[in-house]
Amino acid sequence: MAKKKRKQIVNLMVTGGCGFIGSNFIRYLLEKSDFQGNIINVDKLTYAGNPENLKGIEDKLGDRYAFERADICEQERLLDLFARHNIDTVCHFAAESHVDRSIRRPAHFISTNIVGTFNLLEAARGRGESFNLFHHVSTDEVYGSLGKRGVFRETTPYRPNSPYSASKAASDHLVRAYFHTYGLPVTISNCSNNFGPYQFPEKLIPLIILNAFEGKPLPVYGDGRNVRDWLYVDDHCEAIWAIMKSGRTGETYNIGGDSEMENIRVVEMICDILDGMTPAVDGKSRRGLVTFVKDRPGHDRRYAIDFAKLHRTLNWSPKESFQSGLRKTITWYLENKGWVDRVRSGDYLKWIEEHYRE
Ligand code: NAD
Ligand code: TYD
Repeated sequence: MAKKKRKQIVNLMVTGGCGFIGSNFIRYLLEKSDFQGNIINVDKLTYAGNPENLKGIEDKLGDRYAFERADICEQERLLDLFARHNIDTVCHFAAESHVDRSIRRPAHFISTNIVGTFNLLEAARGRGESFNLFHHVSTDEVYGSLGKRGVFRETTPYRPNSPYSASKAASDHLVRAYFHTYGLPVTISNCSNNFGPYQFPEKLIPLIILNAFEGKPLPVYGDGRNVRDWLYVDDHCEAIWAIMKSGRTGETYNIGGDSEMENIRVVEMICDILDGMTPAVDGKSRRGLVTFVKDRPGHDRRYAIDFAKLHRTLNWSPKESFQSGLRKTITWYLENKGWVDRVRSGDYLKWIEEHYRE
């Protein structure tokens, strides 16, 4: 079957554009891609959404950029935004994204990740023939946990184990169903663990960088032998853009970093790089700060991704090695202490409430 050429993107709604990957994606579109259209960034600005992540970019985009503080759980608001901005394409990042939070308080994961995605799909469907593409950003965690061997492929059955991954799995199914039932043009990507600038310091890599720098304990869950596959965030952005431009409608693409690593090894690498960059005041190795703590309930043992389909069909593969990406990331956190302090103190949340009163 001949591949249908996708229409030019004019008005792109990016949901969750003030979060970690969303803000890197907007930066990527402006600085490293051939994207010429307008961006409408829709973000509720939860604890994980920080407008500072896009500082400078808003000015550079000028009239091509609009920010709308909105909750994707509010259907009427979304319908208004789709109509007012004449949305033809969506790249959907907005989600509750942290597994530990989903274990403690799952409710928001159900509303944002499932109901929010449903609302966006409905709004997109309402645009009829003028709608171009709904790209859904998802995770490899929907496939569950691997043993010592094996990899996740696009055909691997879904077996999510945490409230987070279950809610993402549900949203993936809805997106797929809208393609099959209503013919909504969609693509889905399932990606492994990301790292890089602007990641909220509750996730493993930024948390360990900051604790190690400050001489605090480095919490490692269980025996530290759980394995994740790591991808530098810019590579993820490039993959998403490749899929949005040339991916086949109705298809799922796995995205991975070819960088499987036990958690303890990740932590040790961070310690060693930091020791080399800025030795601890007592001159000791930061590896001594590692503290094994109680395991996460239902902790998936191993993730590994086969991204051969994306490589074969769209010629994508990661550019950054884990080591070089980690160095860049550590340097960024050391050079952006102001951002770190504001994020950790929650000061930016007060700023948001003052600037975005409804
Ligand atoms: P993040 O938590 O850093 O950012 C999420 C963003 O969504 C924030 O800006 C937040 O304010 C916004 N948001 C949350 N609830 C909202 C709502 N109800 N309405 C509107 N906006 C809302 O997350 P991230 O790490 O950037 O992840 C982005 C997407 O990528 C998610 O869908 C996640 O499942 C997926 N993903 C993440 C990773 C990873 O390693 N971080 C890996 C694969 C896939
Ligand atoms: P995380 O960054 O939360 O991502 P995810 O749970 O989506 O994979 O965690 C990555 C791995 O690191 C995971 O196996 C849990 C582990 N981990 C720790 O050992 N200590 C920590 O403090 C955190 C936050 C995670």
